[in-house]
Amino acid sequence: MKRIQIINGPNLNLLGKREPTVYGNQDFETYLQEVKKLFPEIQLDYFQSNTEGALIDKLHETGFTFDGILLNAGAYTHTSIALADAIRSITAPVVEVHISNVFQREDYRHHSFLSEACKGCIVGFGLDSYRLAIEAILHFE
Ligand code: DQA
Repeated sequence: MKRIQIINGPNLNLLGKREPTVYGNQDFETYLQEVKKLFPEIQLDYFQSNTEGALIDKLHETGFTFDGILLNAGAYTHTSIALADAIRSITAPVVEVHISNVFQREDYRHHSFLSEACKGCIVGFGLDSYRLAIEAILHFE
């Protein structure tokens, strides 16, 4: 059974409540249940933290055994060399995920420290970005 880890960063625990015009009305746990039904053949684990170090620890923990990782690092995307280094330090392919199209937003969201270290990026498809990233991981080989 393939194992995929979803890692969500800061403020993504507030999906459904947070800026619904940007991020939609659905909370992540509800969405996750829907996605799990679409991929009954894979183990899909979910972790969220508002703390940079905890996100790095989860990358280290899962990055040598899982088949792929979806990382939405939230605003750390635009600031964190430490997360980029963590992605480079592990062997599992990491897909950078964003709900909103960051390139249609403020200039400071146009740069990601993570993209260079990631296998690929899925940006701007709402919560469906996560499903698309799972499809991408399943088609890697
Ligand atoms: C985000 C985009 C980031 O710029 C922002 O800081 C987030 C969410 C997204 O999923 O669209 O927290 O990663």
